[in-house]
Amino acid sequence: MKRVKVEIAPGVETEFVDRDRALVQVVEWAERGTRFPVVIFGPEGCGKTAFLRQAVSGLRELGYAVFYLHPLDKVFSAEVDDPDVKTLFADLVRKTLEDERWGRLALAVFDLTREILKKRRRKIAVIADDVFQAIGLDKAAAYVKGLLNTIEHPVYDYENIVVLVAASEGVSRREIGRHFWAELRPMWNMPREGFQQLYDKMPEPKPPFEDVWRWTGGNPRMLGRLYSSGWAVGRVAEDVIREKGLTAGFVRRWGRWLEAAVGDPEVLWSGDAPEELARELEARNLIVYNMYDRRPSFWIDQPPPERSPELGIGKNVAWQSPIHREAVRRALREV
Ligand SMILES: Nc1ncnc2c1ncn2[C@@H]1O[C@H](COP(=O)(O)OP(=O)(O)OP(=O)(O)O)[C@@H](O)[C@H]1O
Ligand SMILES: [Mg+2]
Repeated sequence: MKRVKVEIAPGVETEFVDRDRALVQVVEWAERGTRFPVVIFGPEGCGKTAFLRQAVSGLRELGYAVFYLHPLDKVFSAEVDDPDVKTLFADLVRKTLEDERWGRLALAVFDLTREILKKRRRKIAVIADDVFQAIGLDKAAAYVKGLLNTIEHPVYDYENIVVLVAASEGVSRREIGRHFWAELRPMWNMPREGFQQLYDKMPEPKPPFEDVWRWTGGNPRMLGRLYSSGWAVGRVAEDVIREKGLTAGFVRRWGRWLEAAVGDPEVLWSGDAPEELARELEARNLIVYNMYDRRPSFWIDQPPPERSPELGIGKNVAWQSPIHREAVRRALREV
């Protein structure tokens, strides 16, 4: 599979690195089709968007017509051979960009797939990145149901269909998870060897790999941010404190439990931990909650370790990256 180009930090372009198992999974989907929409979730910046972009290119290589939607970035493409479907799609995109009704385009995918299948039976893929934020969380489940209908009850027959959706927040995961309309699949930060390949591509000078691994836990966005900050971990953590709204009030309110969770996130799983705190941390994308299953078949790419106190990973609960944890640790120190 040809590797796509990605930008790890402003001015630092590389090719899509590693994720070998995930790419094998793409080939398997391409061969069999996805029986349910596959909804991918995982830590912010772990590489969901990069992976979906790589999947678009790979599926194209494997003979798929591909619709790709990434409303937040205002990127849309119809990688199809039919000029009229392409024109239809381009018109829709133009209109959408004019009045910023992203949801309309997301919904138009249902008509477009029908349109393209009307002409001939073929292999078709819908790749939707962060659409739930664009159409509204309240419509997320209905949207997934629509995608499932496209798979289960197509108006025109298809040869194979692959539907992949990425969602960044734990909240949408819960919303989708309440129904049996999708296959929810987690993706973790990059595994150590793969992450080292990415580290090797960063310009010198840079700190030793061991340090960067310990700080980022393999999260490629954190790698990019560290690089851009001149490898000032403290500064990146301070930025995360502000981005996550870790105000003195919040930190004081949950002080004791937060301290404990910085030591071991798994305490948030135990019976007497306040559920509200776990929800708050999940909503702020600081932790991933409920990730017990480490069977490789459940994960996109490689599962994280069962437990890693160093990286802040527990069996059921994990910090999204060590820098997320570090931000909380510093916020606690500041009050
Ligand atoms: N396998 C990879 N090889 C090279 N660069 C990567 C890889 N995965 C991710 N990156 C880079 O890391 C950064 C973060 O990745 P990406 O935007 O895909 O994360 P994400 O999971 O989609 O985040 P969010 O949850 O915020 O949407 C990007 O700059 C991306 O280009
Ligand atoms: Mg993304």
